[in-house]
Amino acid sequence: PNNYEFVLLQITAGVVAVFSLNKMHRRGHLIMAAIWVLLTYSLVFAALELIYDGTLLTIDYKTMQWFALSSVLILLVYPLVFIFEKIFGFVSDVTLIELSDTNQPLLRKLAEEAPGTFQHSMQIANLGEEIILKIGGNPFLIRAGALYHDIGKIAKPEFFIENQAIGINPHDKMNYLKSAEIIIDHVKNGVKMAKRHKLPEAIMEFIATHHGTTKAQYFYLKHQEENPEEKVSENSFIYPGPLPRTKEAAVVMIVDGIEAASRSLKEKTMENLRELINKMVEQKIRDKQLDQSELTFSDIKTIKETLLKKLMNIYHVRIEYPKEKENNTTNQENN
Ligand SMILES: [Fe+2]
Ligand SMILES: [Fe+2]
Repeated sequence: PNNYEFVLLQITAGVVAVFSLNKMHRRGHLIMAAIWVLLTYSLVFAALELIYDGTLLTIDYKTMQWFALSSVLILLVYPLVFIFEKIFGFVSDVTLIELSDTNQPLLRKLAEEAPGTFQHSMQIANLGEEIILKIGGNPFLIRAGALYHDIGKIAKPEFFIENQAIGINPHDKMNYLKSAEIIIDHVKNGVKMAKRHKLPEAIMEFIATHHGTTKAQYFYLKHQEENPEEKVSENSFIYPGPLPRTKEAAVVMIVDGIEAASRSLKEKTMENLRELINKMVEQKIRDKQLDQSELTFSDIKTIKETLLKKLMNIYHVRIEYPKEKENNTTNQENN
């Protein structure tokens, strides 16, 4: 082809490559992109032949070899993405998917040393992903972020209720100030571990922000109760923050608190779950924890609805129809 043809061919093939590779989280996507590019080259080249010669009989098939080679070069995207990630500090879906593999050393460690936390993190990942698919956002990012959000608990797993064997609670032998310090430290430890393991910045965001600047309420109130005279510094009971800035991190913050609280809910009925969800979301809003996130009112509504539906599934709660409720007192047998 002459210069003009060459530019036309490369631009069209390039545009097709960009649009056919708008997502790349399976090997198949790359292969499909290569096929699309090859098709584009062939079509444009054939069209040019027709324009200039009026026939396809004189087509130069040798040129087609170059097109094929050029299409195969698309497969180089894979290693190039890795290099560009390192240079420019962004995270691709491929990397997020790799990080979400529970055979990753850090996640294996979490599963072995803090199995309760590992279960909780998987639950948050599933719930978070479901929500993000509804309100828009990156499902791969929220999955990876949720899986790593509590890795700081690896340092002292037995201090967190989800890892405690029944009846054994190391906080019993400790003053409330110290207890709060250990609990709050899981955020700082998590960030340190993430840095040591070179986790991307986008994942670190989840670890650092999932408690925002909330208070370790239980230990704070207990401490006040026990030392009514003392002027307690609230700061010792407050998480260091910062606040979540992305939709994904904000969703993890919301789901994290609600999932944990729902487990200790005694009677898991639709009404109780709904009340818990409303109360906890409102509290996050009142405490200004979501102020820097990109969540809208409509997102919050969807989050609440999705959470209720999912939690009811998890706990096998039956849907209560208003009518059924009325009949409850008169007709017990039908339940
Ligand atoms: Fe946490
Ligand atoms: Fe958590």
